[in-house]
Amino acid sequence: PRLAVIVVAAGSGTRLKGGAPKAFVGLDERSILHHCLVGVFAAEPAQVVVVVPRGFEGEALTDARDAAGGRADLVTIVTGGETRQESVSAGLAALWANVETVLVHDAARALTPPAVFDRIVAAIDAGSVAVIPTVPVVDTIKSVDADGRVVAAVDRSELAAAQTPQGFRRDVLEAALRDADADHTDDAAAVASAGHPVATVEGDAVAFKITTAPDLDRARALLSERLS
Ligand code: CTP
Ligand code: MG
Repeated sequence: PRLAVIVVAAGSGTRLKGGAPKAFVGLDERSILHHCLVGVFAAEPAQVVVVVPRGFEGEALTDARDAAGGRADLVTIVTGGETRQESVSAGLAALWANVETVLVHDAARALTPPAVFDRIVAAIDAGSVAVIPTVPVVDTIKSVDADGRVVAAVDRSELAAAQTPQGFRRDVLEAALRDADADHTDDAAAVASAGHPVATVEGDAVAFKITTAPDLDRARALLSERLS
């Protein structure tokens, strides 16, 4: 099936405070977006849609050309929205007519290994309509009330942390977002609330989301190890 990857990079990065919208913060001499796109192109997509903040379209195109290795013709840059879900919808609106499978990926998960993309695509090829990478929850989780008191322990064995890229049949994701009545924090939540089963594959610790300054430090350290 013709595969498109929508990279959502339109967030402002308020928790990172990196001096620029998060995707445009440097990991080394290259940006978070550049490193993310190198991983995306390894999945051999037919189209890559990069969703960016207004005013960053040109910079994104430069990063994408750089990461695309001669396949810049596959790249579409679009302007994002106020919320992640709006940015995903903007990306969907730019898909080429022949795309059948869509992966939605956070630019902030810059170091996601190609094997995670491969597992997602394999699950879609095997017939899943929606599939997400997950990792086990390592912390002990508590349910806490408004006064900060522990209400209950939550059984960790039933929990998993969701990552991206999340893979969908295009028609399923389009319908789910069109009909979404709430703002969902990930795409699988919208698809699940539309009544579709969501499968899981193994994620990867290295696919963590760069959210805060220590995350950025960790990504930089991993990258310099990888290169040495
Ligand atoms: N994102 C987006 N459009 C938005 C909000 C988020 O494309 N309106 C993207 C971000 O660029 C990021 C991914 O969604 O790649 C996950 O969001 P998050 O980690 O929350 O990034 P930010 O919203 O930029 O960060 P913060 O919440 O700290 O401001
Ligand atoms: Mg955010």
